[in-house]
Amino acid sequence: MTADGTPHGGELVDRELRGDEREEWRRRAREWPGLRLPARALADVFCLATGVYSPLRGFLDRRDYFAVLDDMRLASGVVWSLPVTLAVPPDTAADLDEGRWLRLEDGAGRAVAVLRVEDRFRRDPEYEARRVYGTADPVHPGVARLYREPRVLIGGGVWLLERPVLPGVEDGAAHLLEPAATRREFARRGWRRVVGFQTRNPVHRAHEYIQKCSLEMADGLLLHPLVGETREDDVPAEIRMQSYRVLIERYFPQERVVLAPFPAAMRYAGPREALFHALCRKNYGCTHFIVGRDHAGVGSFYGPFDAQRIFERFAPEELGITPLCFDNAFYCRRCQGMATARSCPHSPEYRVSLSGTRVREMLRRGETPPPEVTRPEVAAVLAEAMAARTPVPEAIP
Ligand code: ADX
Repeated sequence: MTADGTPHGGELVDRELRGDEREEWRRRAREWPGLRLPARALADVFCLATGVYSPLRGFLDRRDYFAVLDDMRLASGVVWSLPVTLAVPPDTAADLDEGRWLRLEDGAGRAVAVLRVEDRFRRDPEYEARRVYGTADPVHPGVARLYREPRVLIGGGVWLLERPVLPGVEDGAAHLLEPAATRREFARRGWRRVVGFQTRNPVHRAHEYIQKCSLEMADGLLLHPLVGETREDDVPAEIRMQSYRVLIERYFPQERVVLAPFPAAMRYAGPREALFHALCRKNYGCTHFIVGRDHAGVGSFYGPFDAQRIFERFAPEELGITPLCFDNAFYCRRCQGMATARSCPHSPEYRVSLSGTRVREMLRRGETPPPEVTRPEVAAVLAEAMAARTPVPEAIP
């Protein structure tokens, strides 16, 4: 497999039940024990069932779990960097022997999926933290979340009964939520080289710069803001989607951009998450994926370019998607435009550094980011939306 648009593992997984079959399973599921899932697990169920996580068909069993932790591969050898796990409370776990069926419910108690238990095992949270996040420090938000979860994990295949309500996707872009839909859209537009872009932040000029550099060599761009769970101090998904709509309308050739929501939760796992993000976008039909400075990083847990180096550990054929790596991009007052140290000769005093943290801090202080940081139309959307929110969330260290 090379970067030719083939889904990861060869085939796009589709475990969404439809029609009579769906009604039959829904009837049966009424008799089974129900498990209410938090938002991030609901997003995982959706991603598993619609092929975002192809070739995964369910939550990892222990063989795959340890292979992912230790080798960044599934037991089959296919590259996979993040464990997709289902943690269950101890009282529920006691009854869940292999072969049992579970009804998975959303926060309102609606049955959204069924799961067949194939394995039940215990995780060692500290070991998992070190392998996945490279640290056992609970200051790291991914590690902190892991430590709060129950230790017993259930492995098993899922089938989707009903699409869960996912935050940030109630708007017009929801029809492009699953890989089959974006793949159809790319084919309709005749795109062969498609670049994917992940973000959890309001769009700033460095994002736009690396997107446009990529667009110079590609047929089209999939702008794919993550709308799943993030830290509380990240800007809400609806506001970020809105900022993207404004940017595309004013500054992009519309026929060369697809804006769609990426429903998974943010893990803040730096390099491993960059690889995971790329493989998911491969399933959405991308042939290339943008990895800039400190992709999926948090605080100073990762080096600024660690997330680019992780791709070098695998052969291009086993990845099947090509990373497009970018140096730190900034606005240079002498160049009067965006640049990186690879293209700009001026001294650092002329450079305006650009990051999601910086934009979030400005918004939190009630400041409108200047044009070197975000486009004025985007800044207006962000400032207005953030001012309307009460209370404005405090930064998490
Ligand atoms: S992420 O957690 O989703 O990666 P963010 O939304 O800030 O965070 O970044 C989206 C993408 O843009 C990532 O690939 C990131 O590395 C890249 N990026 C963000 N800021 C810069 C910058 N100033 N220079 C180069 N790349 C950047």
